Amino acid sequence: MIRLAPSILSADFARLGEEVRAIEAAGADLVHFDVMDNHYVPNLTIGPLVCEAIRPHVKIGIDVHLMVEPVDALIPLFAKAGANLITFHPEASRHVDRTLQLIRDHGCKAGLVFNPATALALMDHVMDRLDIVLLMSVNPGFGGQKFIPSTLDKLRAARQRITAHTEAGGQPIWLEVDGGVKVDNIAQIVAAGADTLVAGSAVFGAPDEGGGYRTVMQQLRTNAVQR
Ligand code: DX5
Ligand code: ZN
Repeated sequence: MIRLAPSILSADFARLGEEVRAIEAAGADLVHFDVMDNHYVPNLTIGPLVCEAIRPHVKIGIDVHLMVEPVDALIPLFAKAGANLITFHPEASRHVDRTLQLIRDHGCKAGLVFNPATALALMDHVMDRLDIVLLMSVNPGFGGQKFIPSTLDKLRAARQRITAHTEAGGQPIWLEVDGGVKVDNIAQIVAAGADTLVAGSAVFGAPDEGGGYRTVMQQLRTNAVQR
């Protein structure tokens, strides 16, 4: 099963309600919600108030990607604001195991995000606490960057770890990729093992003539499932 998660980082922030309704209507599985703090990453975006504001506009899950340091204080706020999934960067939390636990305690799916240079071994001792693993295929902080090709090998390695875990009786873990995902590279990204695809500029940069994003979402879906 393939999940498409358009990142609203590239949406029109003056019309955010309309934008999330449009991606849901176009078949999005999740709203990817990028939170940046001008500390962990050199950019500043949106917080729990905006999450709460868009929540009533869609039924699909909100996938909150925290690029913030520290992490823990924001978790109850995002859970209350209607987040369904919360991922964070292990470098940004002093106690990764505790933060993962905190997310699940607040009723959300929990995940770790791996920067391009972050080793996958950081997941080894917390596999039981993971619902999702997110591999960054760009350095976090900005939309519209180019996909880093070595992510494909890293995806294959992450997929192997996840398969070994589930075959040994462990819970399912989604494998998400974020950064530079486009209509023309999504097939190889899925072939390398990703099942959840974030796409920001590819979606919001390609509106239909009459509005909405059905054409680009359909192209992403078609190329993602053709393997
Ligand atoms: C980057 C963000 C991404 C970003 C992806 O730090 O985490 O979610 O919006 O944007 P594109 O798809 O344009 O690379
Ligand atoms: Zn993101």
